[in-house]
Amino acid sequence: MKNYLEKEEWCVVENGLHAEYNKISESISSLGNGRLGCRGNFEEKFNGPSLQGSYIAGIYYPDKTKVGWWKNGYPENFAKVLNSVNWVGIDIWVNEIDFELNPNQIIEFYAELNMREGILRRKTVAELPDGKKIEILSERFYSMKTKDRCFLKYSVKPLNFTGEITLAPYLDFDVKNQDSNYDESFWEHLAEGENDKMFFVQSKTKKTDFMVTAGMRNRFTLNDEEIENPSLVSNTAFVSAPLKIKVNEGERFSVEKYCSICSSFYYDKESLIEECKSQLEESLSNGYEKAKNSHIAVWQNIWNDCDINIQGDIAAQQAIRFNIFQLYQTYNGDDARLNIGPKGFTGEKYGGVTYWDTEAYCLPFYLATADQKVSKNLLRYRFNHLPKAIENAEKLGFNSGAALYPMVTMTGEECHNEWEITFEEIHRNAAIAHAIHNYTNYTGDKSYLAEYGLEVLIAIARFWRQRANWSAEKQKFVILGVTGPNEYENNVNNNWYTNYAACWCLQYCIDSLQLVKETFPDHYNKVIAKTNFETTHEPKRWKELMDGMYFPFDEKRQIFLQQDGFLDKSLMRAKDIPHEEYPIHQNWSWDRILRSCFIKQADVLQGLYFFEEHFDKETIERNFNFYEPLTVHESSLSPCIHSILACAIGNHEKAYELYMRTARLDLEDLNNDTKDGLHITSMAGTWMSLVQGFGGMRVRNDLLHFDPFIPENWASYSFKVKFRGSSIKVIVTQSEVSIINLSEQKIEIILKGESKTIYPQEVKSIA
Ligand code: BGC
Repeated sequence: MKNYLEKEEWCVVENGLHAEYNKISESISSLGNGRLGCRGNFEEKFNGPSLQGSYIAGIYYPDKTKVGWWKNGYPENFAKVLNSVNWVGIDIWVNEIDFELNPNQIIEFYAELNMREGILRRKTVAELPDGKKIEILSERFYSMKTKDRCFLKYSVKPLNFTGEITLAPYLDFDVKNQDSNYDESFWEHLAEGENDKMFFVQSKTKKTDFMVTAGMRNRFTLNDEEIENPSLVSNTAFVSAPLKIKVNEGERFSVEKYCSICSSFYYDKESLIEECKSQLEESLSNGYEKAKNSHIAVWQNIWNDCDINIQGDIAAQQAIRFNIFQLYQTYNGDDARLNIGPKGFTGEKYGGVTYWDTEAYCLPFYLATADQKVSKNLLRYRFNHLPKAIENAEKLGFNSGAALYPMVTMTGEECHNEWEITFEEIHRNAAIAHAIHNYTNYTGDKSYLAEYGLEVLIAIARFWRQRANWSAEKQKFVILGVTGPNEYENNVNNNWYTNYAACWCLQYCIDSLQLVKETFPDHYNKVIAKTNFETTHEPKRWKELMDGMYFPFDEKRQIFLQQDGFLDKSLMRAKDIPHEEYPIHQNWSWDRILRSCFIKQADVLQGLYFFEEHFDKETIERNFNFYEPLTVHESSLSPCIHSILACAIGNHEKAYELYMRTARLDLEDLNNDTKDGLHITSMAGTWMSLVQGFGGMRVRNDLLHFDPFIPENWASYSFKVKFRGSSIKVIVTQSEVSIINLSEQKIEIILKGESKTIYPQEVKSIA
């Protein structure tokens, strides 16, 4: 746990440089706009730990798989989002001395990530070896308004001398991914130079042939007076615009750096240079402040819809905003080709690819805070990948239109290459089906099922039917050789969650077939024909499987067993593991972890969360009380689900503890890995913990339900949700709950079990 960042309502502040944690700070101060993003690297050279990273959504490279022992069925490639052009760089020379930010020479340092505005600011005062002092101010943002554009303002002031200072803003495309499997560069450099006042670099990805052009224009000033533009200095994949001037003591030498980064993901290759040029021309003529104001205005709208206000607990307040902020920087849903990488634009780990995290964790957040088309785009991403999921299942020996969605993907092809996950963590299929249910249940939009969802559900149901086998010994169907969500167990038989989720998928598919048949007969006929669906035979075989499925259960404790034989383990409590051995995946051998009883993340409990309505409170409580103490929460996806369930069973102390753990995971580096990037997908879990956990929000029988609880140390909290064309605000204090209807239509909700009709702009409160 690291506690070096200051807690403010709207900002994350590092006061005084903590160089040893710099990679953590870089992750935390990452900026992005859904299309572009980068880590909070310093503009100038830095003599300390740093991971340079800037990324472009959708631009990936299929890195050749590297494994110790090849197994048939492994994917050939791992698609990775690429580290791309470094646009933030600015070199400084002070009287011909190449300046480098040296932690030992920093007298003053203040960095502020302003989440309300989406801006990163920094003030640094440094002393050079010869005693000269300079003050540096910097500010940057990725425009949320014009998505290919990023802006930076940077200045230097000599504090105790007069001298010659050079500012050299540059673009550097000579970058590599640290996680390259064969230490290759993924980019082929094409050109650099000047075109009509724009300095640019242009590269394309090897194999995938994506082309990217980054252009830069600069506006230099001395004490706010504009000064001449410098000429170009270039090198392979590098362009710089150095300007050297004499600066008197106390004067401020500044540059506004305007950049556009355009890719062939959005534009014709031939037009990239012209596109960058015209964007930059416009940016420059509008000026920095105008771009900044329109960017801030977009953030204002986002916050207006999805801010969560917590009074009385600054750590919780800062954290929830940080989570929401990072989610909207990563994905804002205007393109069904894009998805949400677990680390967003904040690091290389997980390669920017899509996991089940999107469906299981992120979808509820976007359903309730964004326009419906955003969550629909997330679902359509998987619909578009259905042919590949069928192909993927075929590679593994399945047939007749069965689909196994990849564990990790960019284009629909599987990228993961650890057999115990690639082949065995098949529960991801269920999360994708569950997301369709979630969307339909939340939005009431059944047409999605007819147009897209049903086809996906049929392919998933077919997979489950083929993946299970009849056990003559048990006289039951079993699912063997799987990895459940708890990845600290591999190759287990009858993972309760997987078996349960499989049956749920089959039933949901049967119900959906019926619904679509009755409500959208034309679509029904099309889907039946397209999938060659055997309307009698297939559902019959699915029902056999559901009726005969085996579920491991412990009669004595009346709990579901995570898998066959789970109780043979020596049962210990996670809290008895010595502190210094955490996280165990960094300190224990894999062998020891696999044999231990310790659980990485919700597994049985993930099922109780997804299918809560099927279980009574006592069942949830018994299972929670058995499994949570064994859980080390070493997946970022873990504490949030536990916090929600803890709320559901009234264990408020635990709910709060786990809420803070999910909310401040990165701000305090709780899993000791924030340096690699932020845990973006679990941030949606933080939102769920607050809204579904503390707020008790559920959708049942087409109505929103709330059953709020408020932690003792909070004075109040409030959040807004969108629901079927309505928008409401929920305010919870220690004494009452109020719901405000912000929309033009009346809405009926269930508050603490009581039905309430709330008219437009009306407030209903309950003690
Ligand atoms: C978790 C997976 C998750 C992945 C990406 C792993 O540590 O165990 O459930 O999908 O991280 O977030």
